[in-house]
Parts: sequence; structure tokens; C-alpha cells
Amino acid sequence: MVVFPQGFFWGTATSAYQIEGAWNEEGKGPSIWDVFSHTPGKILDGSTGDTACDHYHRYQEDIALMARLGLNAYRFSVSWPRVLPEGQGTVNSLGLDFYDRLVDALCECGIEPFVTLYHWDLPQALQDGGGWEARNTALAFADYVSVVASRLGDRVHHWITLNEPLAVVVAGYVLGIHPPAKQQPHAAVQVSHHLNVAHSLAVQVLRGLCPASKVGITHVSLPVYPASESSEDQAAAQRFDCLVNRWFWEPSLTGQYPVEGWELLAEFVPQTDAGDEELLRVPIDFFGHNSYTRAVVRNDPSVPLVGASQVPQVGRPHTGMGWEVYPDHLYDSLLRITKDYRPPAIFVTENGAAYPDEVQAGRVADVQRVHYLREHLVRAGRAIAAGVPLQGYFCWSLLDNFEWTYGYTQRFGIVYVDFDTQQRIVKDSGYFYSRIASHNELEENGGNETALPE
Ligand code: FCB
Repeated sequence: MVVFPQGFFWGTATSAYQIEGAWNEEGKGPSIWDVFSHTPGKILDGSTGDTACDHYHRYQEDIALMARLGLNAYRFSVSWPRVLPEGQGTVNSLGLDFYDRLVDALCECGIEPFVTLYHWDLPQALQDGGGWEARNTALAFADYVSVVASRLGDRVHHWITLNEPLAVVVAGYVLGIHPPAKQQPHAAVQVSHHLNVAHSLAVQVLRGLCPASKVGITHVSLPVYPASESSEDQAAAQRFDCLVNRWFWEPSLTGQYPVEGWELLAEFVPQTDAGDEELLRVPIDFFGHNSYTRAVVRNDPSVPLVGASQVPQVGRPHTGMGWEVYPDHLYDSLLRITKDYRPPAIFVTENGAAYPDEVQAGRVADVQRVHYLREHLVRAGRAIAAGVPLQGYFCWSLLDNFEWTYGYTQRFGIVYVDFDTQQRIVKDSGYFYSRIASHNELEENGGNETALPE
């Protein structure tokens, strides 16, 4: 039996653009994702987040679902352009009212809100002014955070400044698959610095306005394993780990970029301001850890900068996203972060899996997701037993939703959404997760799987 500590937070995670819909209602301004998804050819199934899960209008039903599942925490994000349609300047009070109602409704059900302040939906107006390449965006972020914190800070005790800076930088500025869809390494390094500035400024704002609350940042973790014992592959794995993990984690955890990162990125030194070094040293209260899979890496001089590439794990199980199912990665990375950086607390702010679910006779028997969750939760429990200060786990996601460039083709929810009718159906994994959350423990070798709804 894996027993979790008293007071452990059991939640699900979502993000504004992926579930809210109401993309142009009640004064909301456009985000880069509105503009991008409306551009033909960008989203796999030609869809947009215009309606998504219609959560903007159905939040009460969705919160009632969480309560019914016995969950005591919920991670959601605030849409910056809903609150500030131009990104800065005039506040849209109707937008802010929505989050006020949402937080109230959560609190009434005893569900602790974990608020992410930036989950990729930058106001288009700020993008037009240079986006994250412009330092002004970081300053505007701090002002936006102050608007949100002034309104919600009396009830929100956990703030997450940014979600996955790696994805913003790599998908947006290296691979060019997310907006603003650039492939410019120099801009990428500049953006990563401005995200760190934005994070640090936001931490300062939150400390001032909500001194009793806990403030953290969410990073993705992609544990890297060398493809062989050879010294070339081991060095390649270290370089890959440096650029994919350490480059992003270490400014938040140690206040500094890794020296080895500067060696690899020597051509692309970003512009900084006097005082940035000190600014980046603001400490966080918790590390938000998103993780889904691992990377197996070999030496590959044909790949610029990193000189390494991933080796597909043929024959191993994969999710619908093509991500290898390798549960030990969660234990390994939680241990490593604890040992190397000693953060005061860690939350798994996302973990989960997409599978092609089907409704049969009103039921979604998502056996593979149940297996995925069980295996990962067992590793989370073992990590706690080994001394990791893990205080909560958020399953991605509450609902099937708009999975960025994959549109609605990937279902990550523990609750199924019929996008034609907006009907919600709790999947077997939802009942399974509910059972664990309610009992605060799980059987290592199965048992909970077969549990029917209580
Ligand atoms: C994470 C994102 C989240 C979702 C999951 C599948 O990288 O933070 O919005 O797309 O992946």
C-alpha cells in the first residue's frame, strides 16, 4: 500500500485557452492562440479554442464534478487578455469577475485553487509590440499579476507564475510550431531571459500583495538517459539535459543559468539589464513539476548546438501523443530535483496521458490511462518515502480539451467531453483517481482499477 501524507493535494489541471471557450465574449481581447488557431493549416483538425469545453459558461458544473470526485485542489490558468484585453492598460472587469466567481465556487466546495498566471495565451496586442522578445512584456506581466492578485489574493494561497518556459521558447522560437512560430535561436535565448525576468518580477509583486501565499513556477521535466554507456552518448545526454532542463530550472531554483548552458549558447548572449542577476535570485516556495515521459539520447553531431538527438524506443508502450510510457522517470526526476536543488516543496502540476477513448453504453473504460496513472502515482509515493517534499499531484487533465496544435484529436481528460453536446462523462480513470484521492492511498499491485463509482 502506498500511503500519502495528510493534507496532500489531489487535483486536476487545466489551462484557460484549452477549456474556457468564450474567446471573444464580455470584453476579452484576442490572444496569440486565438489568432494562430484561426490561421488555416496550423491546427491538425482545423479546430480552434473558440468554444473548447465551454467552461466559461459551465464552470459550476465542472466544479461540481471535481467535488463529486472528492478532489481537494484545482490548477487552472487566468487568461491574460480576458483581464487586460490589450495586455496592459485598461482592465476588463467582466473578465476579472469570471475568475472571482470561479475562485468563490471552488472555495465553497473546499477545493484549493492553484492559479497559473501564464499558460501561453499572450495578448495579441503585446505580441504585436514584440512579444516576449521585448522586455516590456515582462513589465506588463508584472502589472497584470498585480491586477489579478489584488482581486483574488484574499482566497488564493498558491500562485504559479509561468507554465513551462521551455515550451514557450522551444515550440515558439526554435521549432516554430506554436505562436509566434519563429525559428530564431537568438530570439529564443532572449525570450528565455525575459521569461525569467517576468517570473521574478511577478514573485516580487505577489510577495508584496499576498505575503502569506506560496509562489512557484511550473517547469516541464524531461529526464534524459544516455542511449548507451559510451562516453559520447553520456556527454550528449548531459548537453541535452543542460539545454532542455537545467537551462530553464536553474534560474528559478538557484538564480543562475548553468555555466555549461552559456558554453553551448555562446553565440546567442541575450540583452540583460543591470540588476537582472540579482533580480533572478528571488527564491520560490515551491517547484511545479510537469512530466509525462523521458528522453533517451545519443550523440548526434548533425544537430546544431546540442549535438544530440532522441532515440525512439521502438517496442515500448506509447500514449496517443507518441510519448513513451516510462513511469520510473517520475521517481528519478523528483529525486534528482530534491537532491540537486533542495526546493522547499514540489508539486506535480501535470502528469497524465492521451488515449483514443470511446464511449460504450455510456461508459469510458480507459484501461490504459488507469494503468498510466497507477504506475506514476506509485512512483510519486515512493519518491515521498525517499524524502522528496512532494505536497500534491495534479492530473492533466480534468476534461478532454483543446490540445494546442493537435486540436481535439488527443483526449487527456479523466472526464470525457462530447464536443458536439458538451456532455461530460466521468471515465473509469476518473473514478479510479477519485478513489485514491478520497482514501489518500493506493494499492501498488492493482485493486483500485476495478473499483466502481462510490
Ligand atoms: C503540457 C502543457 C499542457 C498540455 C499537456 C499535454 O506541456 O502544459 O497545456 O498541453 O502538455
